[in-house]
Amino acid sequence: MNDYRLPNLKEAARRQRDPEHIARDLFTMPEEYRTLGEGKRYYILTHGCQANERDSETMAGMLEGMGYQKASSYAESDLILVNTCAVRQNAEEKVYGELGAFLEYKRKKPEMLIGMCGCMAQEERSVQDVLKKYPQVDLIFGTHNLHRLPALLAETMKTGKKVVEIYSREGEVVEDLPSHRNSRHKAWVNIMYGCDKFCTYCIVPYTRGKERSRRIGDILAELKELKAQNYREICLLGQNVNAYGLDLGHAHGFAQLLQAASEVGFERIRFMTPHPHNFDQECIDVLAAHENLMPYIHLPVQSGSDRILKKMNRSYSREEYLDLFDRIREKIPQASFSTDIIVGFPNETDEDFADTLSLYDHCQFDSAFTFIYSPRGGTPAARMEDLTPREVKEERLQILNEKVGYYAHERNAAFLNREVIVLCDGSSKKKKEIFAGYTPENKLVNFKGENIHAGDLVKVRITETHSYSLNGEAVEIISPFPYNISE
Ligand code: 5AD
Ligand code: SF4
Repeated sequence: MNDYRLPNLKEAARRQRDPEHIARDLFTMPEEYRTLGEGKRYYILTHGCQANERDSETMAGMLEGMGYQKASSYAESDLILVNTCAVRQNAEEKVYGELGAFLEYKRKKPEMLIGMCGCMAQEERSVQDVLKKYPQVDLIFGTHNLHRLPALLAETMKTGKKVVEIYSREGEVVEDLPSHRNSRHKAWVNIMYGCDKFCTYCIVPYTRGKERSRRIGDILAELKELKAQNYREICLLGQNVNAYGLDLGHAHGFAQLLQAASEVGFERIRFMTPHPHNFDQECIDVLAAHENLMPYIHLPVQSGSDRILKKMNRSYSREEYLDLFDRIREKIPQASFSTDIIVGFPNETDEDFADTLSLYDHCQFDSAFTFIYSPRGGTPAARMEDLTPREVKEERLQILNEKVGYYAHERNAAFLNREVIVLCDGSSKKKKEIFAGYTPENKLVNFKGENIHAGDLVKVRITETHSYSLNGEAVEIISPFPYNISE
């Protein structure tokens, strides 16, 4: 018998009332772990959302604390971690494909360790599949016990046995974890974990547990540290950022947090992802009042049909969404908007879909992430009978995507000949004189220039527009990186 600790979706759906607490001493790195990775290399493959990107930075920090160094490809690594996403079936299939491919590497290098973590590790079915079909996986751990990575790795190294440890009940908000950030000028900052919305199609409330906000003091301390390290842009992260602080009893927690964050002195602050239901007027007012709060709002609508929104348990109507959208656009006219839309939710009719299209025509989003509904085992929608044929869903996606492309092109065309400020992310791999970065409205700009570096704020004149990017020429470097505010 093995002593695996396996996931349980039913347990994960339960929401306890007991106040979770903040753990500041949960993460330890005993002396004997600090050299376990010496001379070894790690590679982390990250799928899915920014929460996973940030978790991967945390895991990188822990691994480096064990002496590991980052590998530039998985072929040359001694440890591969696959940080997975469970939100749609095709994301899962990608992971299975990768795990299959790693079998080859492991044959050549049997001492190589392979770990799987992230949202798929929180699903019973996926973990059972991996145990059965991918014996080359040595380590499986979930989203609630990242901090256990060094201990679990040490255990599998010591015993040579597979280690599986998943908690289906979220634990504490764990503070003071190490991390190795991927960028020196842009940083992700978690403000809350989990989701309590339980949209009927979504697996996230099961894989990431209940909503838990970090204390505002902890977030601000992290922001101040990032500011001291010359970070220019931060992105506040949560599955449902507008619910920030509700679990702590703050009615307008997110607006207060935005206000406090804007005062730390970053040039750019973004946030991801808001939910229309909790997007209050206080939040709109704060966004409109501060120049460093970027005029880009990703506001997932999912469907334009009241009937489907209800079945999705989205907790707003079409009218409420449009009212919110119009209020934001009125108050922040320069803002760009994007959204998420699911087509082919069980038994979506032509009429429902037409409602989605007409909502889109009203909002004229700058861009959208569009998906065909993917049933997720264990969610209420997966138990709904669905008679809509796959071809109909695919056709709807195509019609919607044409609309998305049309408005993306239109909204971008308005930027022609304008001068915009771009935060440069670096140069193109193929052409060193071509740089890329984003405008405040989150428009991707590819531009020509000289002597420009990642982290520079550059004024760029737009010379050409496309649906998904803008082209331009650098006019001047407004402020080079690193930028010291006291100078
Ligand atoms: N099928 C298709 N799309 C989904 N999303 C979440 N769950 C599903 C699902 N089961 C989409 C939603 C969400 C985005 C992150 O992924 O649009 O906003
Ligand atoms: Fe999923 Fe809805 Fe929560 Fe977003 S708000 S993570 S779609 S349950």
